[in-house]
Amino acid sequence: MIASPVIGHRGAAQLAPENTLAGIRMAAESGVSWVELDVTLLGDGTPVLCHDEVLDRCSNRQGPLAFLSVSDLPELDMGSWFAPQWLNEPMPHLSDALLLCQELNLGLNLEIKPFGLDPEQVARRVFAETEVYWQQPERLLVSSFDETLLTLYRALTADTQMAMLFDFLPELWQLKAEALNAVSIHCDCSLISREEVQQIKTAGYDLYCYTCNNPIQAAELLQWGVDGIFTDNPLLMKDLLPSPCNA
Ligand code: G3P
Ligand code: MG
Repeated sequence: MIASPVIGHRGAAQLAPENTLAGIRMAAESGVSWVELDVTLLGDGTPVLCHDEVLDRCSNRQGPLAFLSVSDLPELDMGSWFAPQWLNEPMPHLSDALLLCQELNLGLNLEIKPFGLDPEQVARRVFAETEVYWQQPERLLVSSFDETLLTLYRALTADTQMAMLFDFLPELWQLKAEALNAVSIHCDCSLISREEVQQIKTAGYDLYCYTCNNPIQAAELLQWGVDGIFTDNPLLMKDLLPSPCNA
């Protein structure tokens, strides 16, 4: 379980380039104790951090990640699209991101994006890296919008904490969560209702909402009973974070 009211989204996506090592460091500096990061595979099966299926939005290159292999990584600049100070910020290997989060004492919600890839291969490759590079199972939560992927991931590990991601909460959400032995439900902060919050909390699940960059909305969601929010800018949520002397 996350047990933190504020989670840095894609690192801290309004403060530093998303899903980069710089973004992870920025999230830690901004005071969060957990981050959410997106992981997918390159064409050669290397797990890397990236939110999109293509490079166009967040890099100096264009085209699908599926066309890349690990030898292409040094040529990628994932930072200067965001601001010149992050020129040549690399696309992180998942392993480097896992190690950095632990070095900074950050818990990690790893969101798996299988896109059109073989979900079994994605699950196996991501799980294999977490087995080698992640030491504290209670500080790792694996999530995805893709139920097939989550089911395949669960088949690899009974122990990993898992979360189901939804935009609209489906009618059969609880059956799905039970089948997966999920501990947490992650919903869109603008689509969830107070009644749905009550339902999820009464059923005994953790509930986190993405992506909330408005402190007033965040406070209201917490007041409804939501356990925490994913935000691109943790600095806006200072009032919701435990003060350093309470940490
Ligand atoms: O994991 C929560 C959130 O990141 C899901 O949406 O598109 O930002 O990955 P997205
Ligand atoms: Mg995500």
